[in-house]
Amino acid sequence: MSTTTAPATLPQANDPCWCGSGRKYKRCHKRSEGRVLPGEVTPMRAVPGHIARPPYADTGEYEPWDEGRVKSPEIIDAMRRSGRVASTVLREAGELVAPGVTTEEIDVYVHERFVELGAYPSTINYHGYPKACCTSVNEVICHGIPDSRPLQDGDICNIDVTGWIGGVHGDTNATFLVGDVDPESRRLVEVTEECTWLGIAAARAGRPLSDIGRAIEDHAKQHRYGVVKAFVGHGIGEQFHTDVQVLHYYDRRQDGIVMREGMTFTVEPMITLGSINYRIWDDDWTAVTSDGKRTAQFEHTILVTDGEAEVLTGGDGAVSPTAPWTR
Ligand code: MF3
Ligand code: CO
Ligand code: CO
Repeated sequence: MSTTTAPATLPQANDPCWCGSGRKYKRCHKRSEGRVLPGEVTPMRAVPGHIARPPYADTGEYEPWDEGRVKSPEIIDAMRRSGRVASTVLREAGELVAPGVTTEEIDVYVHERFVELGAYPSTINYHGYPKACCTSVNEVICHGIPDSRPLQDGDICNIDVTGWIGGVHGDTNATFLVGDVDPESRRLVEVTEECTWLGIAAARAGRPLSDIGRAIEDHAKQHRYGVVKAFVGHGIGEQFHTDVQVLHYYDRRQDGIVMREGMTFTVEPMITLGSINYRIWDDDWTAVTSDGKRTAQFEHTILVTDGEAEVLTGGDGAVSPTAPWTR
């Protein structure tokens, strides 16, 4: 006999699975227990015609060009504005996070709020991506697609928003606690935020880019956490993802890249409780840890100066170590 719903009392790891597959429970349904399951994804929402659209908006095809690493003062000024818009939308979206709220509901808010502020939600049709933000819950590392899954008490949920306004992108994310979260996950989220700010603090003109990854990795390692290598920070400006790549771990290949005043890029470490390896869901976007353990992330778009970096997504109410609303 075979059944699809788990019984109230579960087998021991080495006993046969309850589903009747004949495999050991630990090699069968135990693997998906407590995991985030894909929900239903609604069709892509339209962006009203009065909102200016980036080149990929209608085709979903992205054609990169050679964008300078050092931005002009005009572009930097535009990025201050797009950064502020993204930071506002992230803060407000974070306030919606609560048990029972679906990630789809969060996405609808993000979509409409960007439009209200005059921005195109950058992720819409970016390489065909269907939604206005990414919502990455628990073991989802990044690029989770908002869907019908209601957030559950005890989840952690990253919201990643990017807006395009004035011809430039602003990209920021934070991990939010859903209701009553266990201390181990809370600590992970806290340390991940610290890693992000330590990475940002290491950004300074004249220093090698590798300083950023070193700062992040050192802090993560002190807590015996993993640093995901497969996804990296990125140059940003007129393009969403452009040169340079910002590794969140130390790599001597980045010793030779010197940070310059006027560079703009993101710092967005993904930190794990367990494995740093990943798997991609059948939706071709959602990246999850291979061991199903939790992971957190924070992101800011920054401008390199000859002093402290300017956090372009650090506007009113930006995520900071002292912002109580992330806890
Ligand atoms: N905002 C993400 C980043 O930090 C990118 C999302 S692209 C998407 O780089 F297509 F997955 F939405
Ligand atoms: Co980014
Ligand atoms: Co992002």
